Amino acid sequence: LDNGLARTPQMGWNDWNSFGCNVNENLVRQTADVMVSSGMAAAGYTYVNIDDCWSTKSRNAAGDLVPDPAKFPSGMKALADYVHSKGLKLGIYSSAGTTTCAGYPASLGYERRDAALWASWGIDYLKYDNCGDHQGKNGQQRYTAMRDALAATGRPILFSLCNWGQESVWTWGMPTGNSWRTTGDIQANWNSVMGILDQQVGLEAYSGPGGWNDPDMLEVGNGSLTATEARAHFSLWSLLNAPLIAGNDIRSMSAETRSILTNTEVIAVDQDWGGRQGTKISDNGNLEVWRKPMSNGSVAVVLLNRGSGTATVSTTASALGLGAAASYSVRDLWAHTTSSSSGTISASVPAHGAAMYVVSGGGLVTPSPTPTPTGTNAI
Ligand code: DGJ
Repeated sequence: LDNGLARTPQMGWNDWNSFGCNVNENLVRQTADVMVSSGMAAAGYTYVNIDDCWSTKSRNAAGDLVPDPAKFPSGMKALADYVHSKGLKLGIYSSAGTTTCAGYPASLGYERRDAALWASWGIDYLKYDNCGDHQGKNGQQRYTAMRDALAATGRPILFSLCNWGQESVWTWGMPTGNSWRTTGDIQANWNSVMGILDQQVGLEAYSGPGGWNDPDMLEVGNGSLTATEARAHFSLWSLLNAPLIAGNDIRSMSAETRSILTNTEVIAVDQDWGGRQGTKISDNGNLEVWRKPMSNGSVAVVLLNRGSGTATVSTTASALGLGAAASYSVRDLWAHTTSSSSGTISASVPAHGAAMYVVSGGGLVTPSPTPTPTGTNAI
């Protein structure tokens, strides 16, 4: 969406993955505090996003949504002011239907009213879900109505589409929103992360500055994901130019979780919009190689081991699309070390793990392996 926002994939936090409906202003304030004190803000995380269940169960007499006074006693304007005072931005949630997924009032038919209310509070981001009755309208109609309502407020509000990949949203996402969910909900386990990864293949042609494929929020630090699995998850989401929206309780995260979320070398791959979203270039069942051409002529690569034992995963500079060179520089984005290679890029990767490198030398011969989309979704 050409609204000046999300020129690189948005970064932030959302309460849903860890707290579900248990959202309140203390959680949001404390999260904003920790976003700064933990170094996440310095690493690029900006948006603090409220998900479902923030309002009362019905609109007021005027027809407006009302923040639940038990959860948000100070009101949303005061909360936005606080988040802004930290140098951060505040996100809110609604649905392109008659109700949210948790049964709260939503915005279909109330687009202008709700967008104006959010703008008056100082909201910076809208996650727009797909629950409730659709009143016979298709997704593109319902999401376009909110796009136009947000634009009419005159306030820059990042528009995150959450229709779970339905109606091939990637084919109309770019002119409609700043990101669009490509799948159902992620869960905090390895199989879910891998299942979502598999659904990203082929979508790379549709994303670019202003509009990103969204494989859902991060589960780093959550559920049964080990640190090894979480590093693979974060590596892959970054290679995919995914919005990086932390979904853990950052107030109590371990040092290890914090170091994963704040790995600025990996984040730099996600934020490199001069390149293109990464793609899978080889797959033998358990061992996969993913590459992303970078704007400076280097290539980011993820060597992924989905198997149950340690394995060697390999590729070559040529397979990555680099030209011939006597030697290549290989930067390890997790070990933070640099080595040289005559052309083979290889790692011993633990079960459910990934190695991630940026390889340079030789220059990019094939900048993008994917066709450039045409028509309304052209970048
Ligand atoms: C479905 C979405 O996909 C989730 O991310 C979350 O927003 C829930 N709805 C909230 O009800």
